[in-house]
Amino acid sequence: MLYALQVFVRWLHISSAVVLIGGAVYWRLILMPSSYALPAGEREILNERDAGAFRPFVLAAIAGLILSGIFNILARPGHSLSHNVMLAVKLLLVAHVFAAALVTVRAHSPRRTRTLTGTVISGAVILAISAYLRVVY
Ligand code: HEM
Repeated sequence: MLYALQVFVRWLHISSAVVLIGGAVYWRLILMPSSYALPAGEREILNERDAGAFRPFVLAAIAGLILSGIFNILARPGHSLSHNVMLAVKLLLVAHVFAAALVTVRAHSPRRTRTLTGTVISGAVILAISAYLRVVY
């Protein structure tokens, strides 16, 4: 039973990370450049539609990451100092990604390109730190 719970929580953490960071990467690097083929007014309408469609996924992914992340911390205590320091750095970047993603999907967000770029860059660093945390106890 505990085994099944651990697998489920790990799935929830990884799936939520994929939806949040993968969605941001797809929007910033694929959808946004493609939208430059449209006139400015139509591009703005498309961006607003993209923000509205992505919003529930961002909210669900943030909830999934917080719940599964807290479970991960509680389920595996007794780490080394270097592990805990890197986890603290990760959580600071996580706070930035959550804030930037929420601002990005807000209606009529004035600096959407910038906040989406920040989400992508911090998200990539978080994934690298998470890979490190897997091998350093
Ligand atoms: C943008 C947000 C986040 C991303 C992209 C992310 C990504 C990841 C990834 C890819 C893993 C490795 C999963 C595995 O191989 O099983 C991981 C592990 C972990 N995450 Fe996150 N995470 C995020 C947010 C959080 C939050 C909010 C917390 C805590 C509240 C958290 C705590 C942890 C812990 C403790 C581990 C296990 C590290 C270890 O292996 O010792 N994460 N995360």
